[in-house]
Amino acid sequence: MNSYSIVAEGLGKRFGDTTALDGFDLRVAGGSVCALLGPNGAGKTTAVRVLTTLARPHSGRALVAGFDVARRPAEVRRRIGLAGQEAAVDEILTGRENLEMWGRLHHLGAAAARRRAGELLERFGLAEAADRRVRHYSGGMRRRLDLAAAFIQAPRVLFLDEPTTGLDPRSRTEVWRTVRALADAGSTVLMTTQYLFEADQLARQIAVIDGGRVIADDTPERLKSLIGGDHLDLVVRDPARLGDAAAVLAGVAQAEPVADADARRLTAPVRDRVAALTTVVRELERRGIEVEDVSLRRPTLDEVFLSLTAEAAA
Ligand SMILES: Nc1ncnc2c1ncn2[C@@H]1O[C@H](COP(=O)(O)OP(=O)(O)OP(=O)(O)O)[C@@H](O)[C@H]1O
Ligand SMILES: [Mg+2]
Repeated sequence: MNSYSIVAEGLGKRFGDTTALDGFDLRVAGGSVCALLGPNGAGKTTAVRVLTTLARPHSGRALVAGFDVARRPAEVRRRIGLAGQEAAVDEILTGRENLEMWGRLHHLGAAAARRRAGELLERFGLAEAADRRVRHYSGGMRRRLDLAAAFIQAPRVLFLDEPTTGLDPRSRTEVWRTVRALADAGSTVLMTTQYLFEADQLARQIAVIDGGRVIADDTPERLKSLIGGDHLDLVVRDPARLGDAAAVLAGVAQAEPVADADARRLTAPVRDRVAALTTVVRELERRGIEVEDVSLRRPTLDEVFLSLTAEAAA
């Protein structure tokens, strides 16, 4: 059990009639990044709150950094960092003052706190706004400052609740880089996200949560093979040819193509993306089926859930 930094067993949490966690199980190995992937209301924030001692579970138990969250919360808190879904920065202070204060709270000396604050402000694109009060920051700037605060020291276990929601692409990349650097230096990171792509970028372990329980827990590779890789979408010009086009697509697809007649669109998962695209385009042309659009894309979260829940039901 010691090789795991996070262990949750059968966690249950209710709010009145709502069951937020319903037998939540998870194990995250020390020094690794785990993405907790799920739609709105799946229970991601509740799981993070229980694991960071901010909420008490009604059932089950959890160990973080080797300590029971219910019985030894102070020991847990000493070893973790958290950037919650809502920014927790002080409005009255400037960005720099916020970070320096966090550094001091985390037992950095004044000089070290100032140096670290300067570094992080630079890294998260806040250098220019550093000496303005947070009250005047935009939503994305607050979010970045909050993340910078979570990164002020390398905690043993770091929890990030939707760290990149609402961030511009540059800031998102910076968050990813920082998460990777922390994991390389030995921290364990549990981050929640609604984006499969993001989970895939960062995590060796993806736990999919729905209805308060983990419905899939695997490497990105295995999850993707489970859901059938890329999807090929095409839009035909003539609605009368939708059926013909579906037959062409079915020839290269891993599953029955799904048709949206109103949009004249077909979609299906394919394994070998380039070969599939080439074959489909050639075959459509041979049969004289005109298309307005052909594209390859990653499966959406909806498609992941559909296939995972279909899998679970089967
Ligand atoms: N303090 C609370 N009081 C009442 N219900 C709550 C509370 N916190 C969470 N819930 C409910 O528990 C369920 C799980 O919520 P949670 O915030 O954990 O989901 P989430 O996966 O983080 O969603 P999101 O993607 O929207 O952040 C939801 O149905 C939510 O309405
Ligand atoms: Mg949430």
